[in-house]
Amino acid sequence: MTDVSKLLLAASAARTATPIHAVDADGLRAITGKLSGAQQTWVERNGFTGSGGKWLAVPDDTGSVAMVLFGKPGADADPFETASLANSLPSGTYALGEGFDNPELVALGWLLASYRFNRYLPAKANGNRPAGMARLACPAGVDRDRVISIASAVCMGRDMINTPAEDMGPSQLEAAARSLAKTHKAKVSVTKGAALQKGFPMIHAVGRASDDAPRLIDMTWGKTSAPKVTLVGKGVCFDTGGLDLKPSSGMALMKKDMGGAAAVLSLARMVMEAGLDVRLRVLVPAVENAVSGNSFRPGDILTSRKGLTVEIGNTDAEGRLVLGDALHLADSEKPDLLIDMATLTGAARVALGPDLPPFYTDDSALAAEIDRHATAVADPVWRMPFWGRYNEMFSSKVADINNAGTGGFAGSITAALFLKRFVENTKAYVHFDIYGWVPSARPARPLGGEPQAARALFSLLSSRYPARK
Ligand code: BES
Ligand code: MN
Ligand code: ZN
Repeated sequence: MTDVSKLLLAASAARTATPIHAVDADGLRAITGKLSGAQQTWVERNGFTGSGGKWLAVPDDTGSVAMVLFGKPGADADPFETASLANSLPSGTYALGEGFDNPELVALGWLLASYRFNRYLPAKANGNRPAGMARLACPAGVDRDRVISIASAVCMGRDMINTPAEDMGPSQLEAAARSLAKTHKAKVSVTKGAALQKGFPMIHAVGRASDDAPRLIDMTWGKTSAPKVTLVGKGVCFDTGGLDLKPSSGMALMKKDMGGAAAVLSLARMVMEAGLDVRLRVLVPAVENAVSGNSFRPGDILTSRKGLTVEIGNTDAEGRLVLGDALHLADSEKPDLLIDMATLTGAARVALGPDLPPFYTDDSALAAEIDRHATAVADPVWRMPFWGRYNEMFSSKVADINNAGTGGFAGSITAALFLKRFVENTKAYVHFDIYGWVPSARPARPLGGEPQAARALFSLLSSRYPARK
């Protein structure tokens, strides 16, 4: 809800801004050599030695801040460590001085760190910093519009995830997609009711118990002749687990189960704002996995859009059901690249923890490309295998497949393999099992919703399909 775009000023603002110099012990000596005696004493008496992540404001004769010294983070520090300055410096306008290796990442991190979710705190428009946030002059050579676009798209995704299910149900998710589409002249069509039941039986079955009707949101943008990139995002606005109800501890955070939808919409916003040379399609099955007299049940057998029959082993394995029908639609037009993003399994978190989402693809060259971009923009992901032998873990005696694996092993892999059953014609398919949430705040990643992997994928798409001028 913070409009972070206001915090990155034009490069020209640097002239009157307070410089921040990143220093190690040697750099500190070089800079203090040029300071007045009083300033040197100030640095010394404050015990500032340039150690990583520490900062010190150095006053001038009048008592205002002449410069900020910042201890260069070590090589193994969080890549966004510098961005923490946005939250610790007094309000004012700053500019990067000497010693910053990756000014673009600092600028982006500055905005990402400044995000606050304050929709329900109208009295505190700036969160806990009523005096206002620190602003940064855009560093020389950094594309300000691009940084603002990426940061704003991430913050939009965070807002969507952080918004409780009461205000972010299927209809509000649809409204968010429509408003994004309107800004970028994209087309939206939405399938619900009888047409959904007939065309997308699994989406309908999962969502039918909710008062907010299930639907499939289908957004398209760009030239029809451009390479086809299709994004599919899990839009489970709340996941009670259905009749195989989650315990309260497991249900507590399930407003974030539309994190995949938020991530693909966040990515779509970046792609459209940059005008990349793609024909973009975004599919979001938007449902609430609720409990009611008409809930789908354990033991039910659903006939999917593809025709495969699916025995319901557990109504809590709902994400793969809604995605299966959406992926089959996506696959039918043979896109060049098909990416889905979903808060699909708890098992992914057991394997890799909350910060490192696994992704799955059979295309090793693409996997290496994803890895490279993810590292470059500090949005890390980790490849896991579509290990075909585990298909037998979700076989069924009465249907083609079961939606829940037996044995309790390899839950993220079996979920990924389930999805893959619905993709046959696409040239390249990638599945991301994201957590969508930062459980304890880290630099540039405040506690709460996070559209993980969206920035990494935007970096990949911008290098593959640059805008045509
Ligand atoms: N939305 C959950 C997965 C999830 C849980 C993601 C916690 C992040 C944190 C998903 O719908 C689910 O419930 N999956 C089950 C599948 C099982 C029933 C086969 C799981 O992972 O336990
Ligand atoms: Mn579930
Ligand atoms: Zn779920």
